[in-house]
Amino acid sequence: MHLLIVSCTPRAKEKSNTDKILDELKKGYEYNGNTTETLYLYKRNEWESMREKFYENDNILFALPLYVECIPGIMAEFLETLKPKQNCNTKIGFLLQSGFAEASQLRCCESYYYETQPSG
Ligand SMILES: Cc1cc2nc3c(=O)[nH]c(=O)nc-3n(C[C@H](O)[C@H](O)[C@H](O)COP(=O)(O)O)c2cc1C
Repeated sequence: MHLLIVSCTPRAKEKSNTDKILDELKKGYEYNGNTTETLYLYKRNEWESMREKFYENDNILFALPLYVECIPGIMAEFLETLKPKQNCNTKIGFLLQSGFAEASQLRCCESYYYETQPSG
């Protein structure tokens, strides 16, 4: 199965904790022949082609750090540029990681995910 991954940190790949986690996740995911493609939101000049890939793909994972108890601003900005998908077979997952110990900080972001799911 092909998985489109969107890395939603504003940090460059070399400095991002999200991308360190993704590197390991991809090793496991691709081990038995699955494939991935990763898009990096910090590369703003590529957003047009990223939108096309979002529309074309059915299996999508948004990977993000918690920033001020919610999603990074760059991710909110990108999501707001997307049109609703017509294809109701699309499945969207989220990988959220954060720096502080209090798990309650993640709850606001968790609620946001449900709002982000494409409608039928
Ligand atoms: C501006 C900023 C805000 C942050 N806010 C939170 C927060 O509210 N809760 C938390 O647990 N971690 C917070 N963190 C920590 C990040 O979630 C953590 O360092 C994460 O691993 C960064 O991932 P990245 O390197 O891919 O951007 C914050 C970090 C930054 C830079």
